[in-house]
Amino acid sequence: MTTLFDSISLGGKTLKNRVIMAPLTRGRAGAEGVPNELVAEYYRQRAGAGLIIAEATAVSAEGRGWMNSPGLYTDEQQLGWKKVADAVHAAEGTIFVQLWHMGATVHPDFIGGEQPVSASAVALAGQLTTPLGRDRTFVAPRALSVSEISERVRDFARAARRAIEAGLDGVEIHGANGFLIDQFTRDSTNQRDDLYGGSIDNRLRFMTDVVEAVSREIGADKVGIRLSPTNSVWGISDSEYSHTFTRAAEKLSEFGLAYLHVLEPRPESGHAMASEHYLTPAMRECYSGVFLVNGGYDQASGEYAVNQGAGDAVVYGQAFIANPDLPERFKRGAVLAEADSSTFYSDGAEGYVDYLPIAS
Ligand SMILES: Cc1cc2nc3c(=O)[nH]c(=O)nc-3n(C[C@H](O)[C@H](O)[C@H](O)COP(=O)(O)O)c2cc1C
Repeated sequence: MTTLFDSISLGGKTLKNRVIMAPLTRGRAGAEGVPNELVAEYYRQRAGAGLIIAEATAVSAEGRGWMNSPGLYTDEQQLGWKKVADAVHAAEGTIFVQLWHMGATVHPDFIGGEQPVSASAVALAGQLTTPLGRDRTFVAPRALSVSEISERVRDFARAARRAIEAGLDGVEIHGANGFLIDQFTRDSTNQRDDLYGGSIDNRLRFMTDVVEAVSREIGADKVGIRLSPTNSVWGISDSEYSHTFTRAAEKLSEFGLAYLHVLEPRPESGHAMASEHYLTPAMRECYSGVFLVNGGYDQASGEYAVNQGAGDAVVYGQAFIANPDLPERFKRGAVLAEADSSTFYSDGAEGYVDYLPIAS
């Protein structure tokens, strides 16, 4: 019987357990997107995870649209990530970083008033805080040309190279939650009629181009990818989501990646993002490789998932914010602390590095 405390081999590394930390944007990297000592300490505290997947990190200035989120496109940012990698490795942890381009959700306030870019000129429904104010509404993006798409693919590869040079163990490509890759994948935001739009394989092409380029740059065994097939964040949707995402899982199998990570709460979890069209089992069927599941898991449902083979390991988000030693707490059957959502994206140490481990 497989348990959450069994080790697992992932991308040539042996993870000490199957309790994985989800990518969690915390907005502590400052205006220049440089992880500092506080960020290094936050991740060091969580090194007991089988794998830390560090927060969404921009591959270019154009793709960064979240206040004080980190980047990996300048030397300073790379040095900041080196501090994080060193701290986690000193505590015997393993750490990947999630790479994103936010596409149509980048407000012009972040990019000198320029129009954001996407698959097509389709505005997403949403607001985010920008340097110029709270709740700034998204604007209509412009569609990238084919040669511009190639440049964005190269940005992912370059950021991945920097991640490895900083000493991180690998990268997770952010193909979920309505950001640029997802904007290409789903047909509510992709209305192109060239090689990057129309058929499912064409809509998946940007994702597979990125996966291919990043794998060539750093080795497929250091590359994971995250998808969220039924998440309708920012109003994004796909009219044939079940075919789109099972095909995605099938195509991703060809690359020999470290893992495929699916964010989709189970219908019975009662999670706000749960959908009745639960697709994770069908994607699991279509994917040959390590499969990570996420969304509303607790210890019991996580144990059940690995035991039944629904996933090879379980990814925990909010639980890791408030319980830095989550695997140890699971082991001891200790009570879990609740995360305070008012400090998710606030500044400084409060609600960030002040959740302490249980006394040993
Ligand atoms: C504060 C916060 C920040 C998040 N940031 C990211 C992120 O950077 N990248 C991402 O893919 N998902 C992000 N998510 C989603 C989580 O990774 C995870 O999918 C979600 O919390 C559901 O898992 P859970 O029920 O175990 O918390 C974020 C969620 C929260 C609460």
